[in-house]
Amino acid sequence: MWRDLKIMADKAGRRGIAPLFGDGRAEDFSVRADGMLLDYSKTAIDAEARAALLAEAEARGVPARREAMFTGAHINQTEDRAVLHTALRNLGGAPVIADGEDVMPGVLDTLARMKGFADAVRSGALRGAGGAITDVVNIGIGGSHLGPEMTVRALAPYADGPRCHFVSNIDGADITAALDGLDPARTLILVASKTFTTTETMTNAATARRWMERSVDDPGAQFVALSSAVDKAAEWGIDPARVFGFEDWVGGRYSIWGPIGLSLMIAIGSDAFTEFLRGAEAMDIHFRTAPLDANMPVMLALVGLWHTHACGYPTRAVLPYDQRLGRLPAYLQQLEMESNGKGVAMDGCSLTYPSGPVVWGEPGTNGQHAFYQLIHQGTAVIPCEFLIAARGHEPELAHHHRLLVANCLAQSKALMRGRSLEEARALMRAEGYRGAALEQQARHRMFPGGRPSTTLIYDLLTPYRLGQIIALYEHRVFVEGVMLGINSFDQWGVELGKVLATDLQAVLDGAAPLADKDGSTRQLVTFVQSYSG
Ligand code: F6P
Repeated sequence: MWRDLKIMADKAGRRGIAPLFGDGRAEDFSVRADGMLLDYSKTAIDAEARAALLAEAEARGVPARREAMFTGAHINQTEDRAVLHTALRNLGGAPVIADGEDVMPGVLDTLARMKGFADAVRSGALRGAGGAITDVVNIGIGGSHLGPEMTVRALAPYADGPRCHFVSNIDGADITAALDGLDPARTLILVASKTFTTTETMTNAATARRWMERSVDDPGAQFVALSSAVDKAAEWGIDPARVFGFEDWVGGRYSIWGPIGLSLMIAIGSDAFTEFLRGAEAMDIHFRTAPLDANMPVMLALVGLWHTHACGYPTRAVLPYDQRLGRLPAYLQQLEMESNGKGVAMDGCSLTYPSGPVVWGEPGTNGQHAFYQLIHQGTAVIPCEFLIAARGHEPELAHHHRLLVANCLAQSKALMRGRSLEEARALMRAEGYRGAALEQQARHRMFPGGRPSTTLIYDLLTPYRLGQIIALYEHRVFVEGVMLGINSFDQWGVELGKVLATDLQAVLDGAAPLADKDGSTRQLVTFVQSYSG
């Protein structure tokens, strides 16, 4: 398929984007879903390319695969598991069968337990040794960290519970900073780990327990586990009544909707958390029922595939014009790169085309004063994905928000239209330049234009909207994975580093020899040892 699409992309590249604009393009090359608008008109996709992409989505079985996911088939083939994070927000409770059993009673029961617990923490009914809980520390990494951290920050205007802190890195600097100034007697520690074996999390959890033990008689009473490995959490010493379990059909990077979301629920309350789930559920229904050409996750995926596979742009920038979505790029890095960063297709053959793209980004307007230079004038083309709310949470600062919106819209316009050499010359002439100096200045001040972007716009970043947005990206990654023939739900690529780290830890502890390591590793270890005594 990529060959035909590449031919179309070459043609589109020569034509550019601005010439495509005629009556109705903006509306035609946009998708709406329940209060959100995705405008992909500022890409080089024309009607012919879109038709080809949609035909490919049908041919590659996106609708059937989507149904297989929602109905509990084992689409995670390498781990022989269902993929049912959607069940966690199936608030209607309609049966979802996995391995012959309806998973919904268990899902709803856990949700009810989470609500009871979060309400008790928030009301002060559940207390620490020193009184009502003032601070919650979520210890986890990857999917057990990025979702909670990103969403708690995004929904700060709704937070009226205890303060939430996040520890992920094995670097002792992380937990030291997080615990600094907290009162152990009024702190609740959430140990968030699907497997309850992850070295970073278990090391940080042990450090937190020692910190707690120094001043609290019954430290176990202030620990909670969020995990699929209920037995391991109990063995670690957490009261089973404080263990919130989930099933192996919830992948780590898709786990914010259940127990891993407990810090968010404690921060914003169970009603707002339910709204968050409702938003995701609405996106699930849209994804499952809307025709492909009016389906927001499908169209966002096709735009992404067009850029990565037809145009050959290897990276994608996520640029939220929303300071509170500052961790969204990091969240999407895991979601997209851990899901679709694979070199082998589902059938075991090596990919003969690129896997998913590199995802990166920063909030606007900060990025404008840092890396946008390269996006506008560098030699690499970087498709940009802008996100912006029509209004902010600070009505008294509405002029800030107008400036934010103006900047966001100006960037996508500037990327598309650019500034021709002729326009740059006219500008320089107006500034008084003449002759060779004018020509030289003009060359530096022209912009190639024709650089693609999409804009996702919504009214206000509420819990419901955030739920919709995250589910939108989850389904986008799913569709891209199906089109690439990839299993988006395993992550074998993280294993080798873990094994070698264990091996090297033994060397650093002096329990294993260094001699059999490669020269570079020997040199680096020797350097470390020369300082650590
Ligand atoms: O190492 C990668 C990974 O397995 C991620 O997929 C996961 O989100 C993260 O580690 C944390 O895993 P756990 O929740 O089991 O501690």
